[in-house]
Amino acid sequence: MPVLQMIRQRFQQERPLAGLRLVACAHVTTETANLARALSAGGAEAVLIASNPLSTQDDVAAALVKHYGVSVFAIKGESVETYSQHVRIALDHKPQLIIDDGSDVVATMISERPELIADIIGTTEETTTGITRLKAMLRDGKLTFPAIAVNDAQTKHFFDNRYGTGQSTLDGVIRATNILLAGKTVVVVGYGWCGKGVAMRARGMGSNVIVTEINPIKALEATMDGFRVMPIQQAAPLGEIFITVTGSRHVIDGQHFEKMKDGAIVCNSGHFDLELNLVALKEMSTDIKTVRPWVEEYKLRDGRGIIVLGEGRLINLAAAEGHPASVMDMSFANQALSVEYLVKNKGKLEAQIHLLPEEVDTEIAHLKLTAMKVSIDDPTPEQIEYMNSWQSGT
Ligand SMILES: NC(=O)c1ccc[n+]([C@@H]2O[C@H](COP(=O)([O-])OP(=O)(O)OC[C@H]3O[C@@H](n4cnc5c(N)ncnc54)[C@H](O)[C@@H]3O)[C@@H](O)[C@H]2O)c1
Repeated sequence: MPVLQMIRQRFQQERPLAGLRLVACAHVTTETANLARALSAGGAEAVLIASNPLSTQDDVAAALVKHYGVSVFAIKGESVETYSQHVRIALDHKPQLIIDDGSDVVATMISERPELIADIIGTTEETTTGITRLKAMLRDGKLTFPAIAVNDAQTKHFFDNRYGTGQSTLDGVIRATNILLAGKTVVVVGYGWCGKGVAMRARGMGSNVIVTEINPIKALEATMDGFRVMPIQQAAPLGEIFITVTGSRHVIDGQHFEKMKDGAIVCNSGHFDLELNLVALKEMSTDIKTVRPWVEEYKLRDGRGIIVLGEGRLINLAAAEGHPASVMDMSFANQALSVEYLVKNKGKLEAQIHLLPEEVDTEIAHLKLTAMKVSIDDPTPEQIEYMNSWQSGT
């Protein structure tokens, strides 16, 4: 993670976060460990908790505690109660800065510990779903401190959501099932940044991809990208593998499971485990059998089996290792620089959802290109003059 490493080295010199209490809620993976090291190098007193019960790499959590002095509250496979308890323990740290992924820390603080808000300099948010929740808090008048939408930086969602989720979601499906994707009908539910990546990579593996959408522009884009687009009710009997990436709820519901083929595989790569209505599926089932790790077969009354991967949680983190380091390098560079930006602008930013300034985004792209040994052109003086003038036309 060369970009994050450069930031860590600068942070070590400049100590922009010296003595500040910070809570980071993220998938506890090797990449997050590098972010935690950068924050500590900057002087933050950081506590790290998991942003999902199934995404923790226990060896990473242990190494951070033992070798890097970061307090970590996370264990792979923790119950929802333990997960929530960890959020509350983190809040006992009385954070001045929050790095959130899905907005559980911010939402819990606002609803259960409002007295902590007075100390908050700001929060950053990693993912699409968390930003949707922050917007809802803002509408309800509950967001009373600045938030930075890290997800909305171009060097985040163009790469992490598209190429990261695209690759690691299929990696999760393959590691869980060892299935051949070539020739399979894959239904991708949602054609946003993540869905585009999943659909593109599934096609690259030889799958026949169907996209379902609710947004006409995204549906049109998927159609012109060459995918078949249809309602989920029509796709349900055709698909062999279903992958949800919408950030919404019950996008595959009881009536869709009802229509699926025997042996259909269903999984989710959206943030929360609500995209598949597994409660409905359970009610329709006579038996649930664990076939192998992260693979459960729900037996329906008519004898069909529906295979659910990773308990409906993010499949790329449950069954695989999440996004590769080289893409998280840019996402977490954005996180580290967002936290620094909040501190530098303490008291000056409105209680709003902010974007990092465009120069920061561009700088991250430059640093990443340098690390990848890719160079690009600079515009000539003649080109700069032309682009800034209106006089010359045809
Ligand atoms: N697995 C990961 O590592 C990972 C990484 C980044 C983001 N995420 C999560 O993935 C989800 C999607 O993120 P994104 O950046 O692609 O968001 P996005 O807003 O770009 O795309 C979501 C798409 O889903 C569509 N959609 C909503 N409801 C639908 C429905 N009922 N049926 C079909 N389509 C529907 C929307 O119209 C939109 O086009 C979010 O929950 C986000 O937090 C996961």
